[in-house]
Amino acid sequence: MSINNSLIIENLTKLYGYGLLGLKKFKVLDSISLNIDLEKPKIVVLAGETGSGKTTLLRVIMGVVKPDSGRVMYKGYDVHRLKGSMVRWYRREVQPIFQDPYETFNPLRRIDSYFRDTVRNICGIRNGDEIERRIDEALRFVGLSLDRISGKYPHEFSGGELQRISIARALLTNPKILLADEPVSMLDATLRVNILNILKYLKEKLNMVIIYVTHDLSTAYYIGDYIAVMYRGTLVEYGPTSKVYQEPKHPYTYALLESILEPDPALREKYPLIKPSALEIKEFLIYGCRYASRCPYAKDVCFRKLPPFIEIDGEYVRCWRYTNYKE
Ligand SMILES: Nc1ncnc2c1ncn2[C@@H]1O[C@H](COP(=O)(O)OP(=O)(O)OP(=O)(O)O)[C@@H](O)[C@H]1O
Ligand SMILES: [Mg+2]
Repeated sequence: MSINNSLIIENLTKLYGYGLLGLKKFKVLDSISLNIDLEKPKIVVLAGETGSGKTTLLRVIMGVVKPDSGRVMYKGYDVHRLKGSMVRWYRREVQPIFQDPYETFNPLRRIDSYFRDTVRNICGIRNGDEIERRIDEALRFVGLSLDRISGKYPHEFSGGELQRISIARALLTNPKILLADEPVSMLDATLRVNILNILKYLKEKLNMVIIYVTHDLSTAYYIGDYIAVMYRGTLVEYGPTSKVYQEPKHPYTYALLESILEPDPALREKYPLIKPSALEIKEFLIYGCRYASRCPYAKDVCFRKLPPFIEIDGEYVRCWRYTNYKE
């Protein structure tokens, strides 16, 4: 893997304040490392329950949130140390797609004027015909065209159409990476599959890397070539999706997958998935493995020390069970 063609996330830690005046701190991201090579197109799913730090991680990758330690290297450049024209370059290379397409666009502005401004100001294209061509090309990738959107305002489109439009907007700058934060959660089931298929198509057609955030494991399976499983600010497992689903290594990943396969709702309760509670903050504050208090295999060390992120035949897992550590 070449450094000059990778996104390397190195030991990222981000602290947020909480409690009265936010003076106490918790690690919303703790020692996250992940290498994504940009050579081959791929979709990497970031999966984890609500509050696990997925959006924060995306924002750090985008460069809009600064980590407290660690760094994000894109094609050999530290994303948080870019200056001037390099900042603009990075904004073209890495484009976000948000959860709610109605929030992406100003309701009082016509969509095509939005598109024209982006091509003019961010891509630096001045020629009128070329601007039109670029916009039409981007829209055709998502099954629309400039004619279809010309003169229209955001509210004149359905949620599904508008999400396709926001994907087209992201494509205007010819990005290498799309960061998609739960882009289908506001849509009906049939429209969801449509958006997922568009992303799969773009990946192949435009040789892209897409980082796709979700807490839905069936979506993750459908779309992901790789899956990164997060738990309370830590990355517990990373590997090819088929491998992780067939043979989950971290006890948390195992419990997550069991819970979607478990047909009995009473038993499903055994694996609380989305349950923000007092325990949440407490788990963020543990020095060791955040899952220790729920894990059937937990030993003393798990409560004291964060396990190392180790490689086991093509996968990565952060769990003491896979180390030689003896108490
Ligand atoms: N600016 C902030 N200041 C303080 N705490 C924050 C801030 N942003 C997020 N948090 C907290 O950090 C934790 C992780 O938030 P984040 O939004 O990254 O999670 P998420 O995995 O994207 O969740 P969801 O699935 O609900 O979108 C949560 O406990 C959240 O309340
Ligand atoms: Mg989020």
